[in-house]
Amino acid sequence: MALIDSHGRTINYVRLAVTDRCNLRCTYCMPQEGIDFVSRQKLLSYEEMIRLLKIFKTLQVNKLRITGGEPLVRKGLLQFLSEISDQEIMPGFHLTTNATLTLPHIEILKDVGLKSVNISLDTLDAKRFIDITRRDQLDEVLASINGFYQNDIPVKINMVVTKGMNDEDILPMAQLAEHRNIQVRFLEEMPFNGTNETKTHFFTHHEIKEILEKGLPPLKSLPFTKGGTSQNYSVDGWKGDIGIIASYSRTFCGSCNRVRVTPTGQLKTCLYGNHVLDLRQLLRNGSSDLEIADSIKQVVAGKPMDGFEAERSRFVDITESMATIGG
Ligand code: 5AD
Ligand code: SF4
Repeated sequence: MALIDSHGRTINYVRLAVTDRCNLRCTYCMPQEGIDFVSRQKLLSYEEMIRLLKIFKTLQVNKLRITGGEPLVRKGLLQFLSEISDQEIMPGFHLTTNATLTLPHIEILKDVGLKSVNISLDTLDAKRFIDITRRDQLDEVLASINGFYQNDIPVKINMVVTKGMNDEDILPMAQLAEHRNIQVRFLEEMPFNGTNETKTHFFTHHEIKEILEKGLPPLKSLPFTKGGTSQNYSVDGWKGDIGIIASYSRTFCGSCNRVRVTPTGQLKTCLYGNHVLDLRQLLRNGSSDLEIADSIKQVVAGKPMDGFEAERSRFVDITESMATIGG
């Protein structure tokens, strides 16, 4: 019983946010202070998440990404991941992390099924790292990148490009892909910053591409991978490649294959849309697995065509943080 939406897209990928907390405070994601983190009882428990993943498995969802907040700040994460692996619920998992806390755990993460890692890093400059994340942890991130690489875990680095903040870092960050087989991806900033301040202008994928084209040897377009979000480019002689994610311009919705579960168990069928199903309530009110699976099927059928349609359907303005949605 596969999950198929009314636009013919098969949904086989779930992004599970295990916490809304984070040890960093990236300016584009969270305000510095005054954040209302969710209390423990409102989070899905690991037991509930295991049950939910088994339900997703019956719906032929076979790709899992663990996100947050920062997943590694939730206690018991490694145990949870090893249960998923022991019970063979998913064929491994992917992880999105800021990589400040991962270094001591790389081998165990690999042992319990880590297939690839997306690392959020917006600059290689120590001072700008502090300006952006409001913390001083660049060295830990760089050490983790090396650690994952040396352990043969595929690494992607995600840089959110913020005008006036880190546009100077675009080229040095791209060059991380020159001598190592990693992918460096540049993301358009989105308005999910935990406040209702919206900028009128975000740096677009066109502007990012222009900077890359001016500063690097010729870029060669790589074929778009189905379900992917980045337009990737190779550079002759480089071991890795680079990608641009038009997360604000939303160019990739046509082949979207994903849903999100927020830390409080709300199902989102589009990042830009409303919560469409309260899974936590269903998991706690005695609903059967079949009933939950049916509810998921119903809301997935109504997945909006793209992020613009989803945004128009919102009940409230975008004031969420990526950390409460799951990055
Ligand atoms: N715009 C774009 N990307 C964002 N992220 C967090 N907030 C934003 C935003 N406002 C990114 C992080 C990370 C992923 C989880 O989401 O940098 O790469
Ligand atoms: Fe933490 Fe990621 Fe948000 Fe930065 S973007 S504050 S690393 S959750």
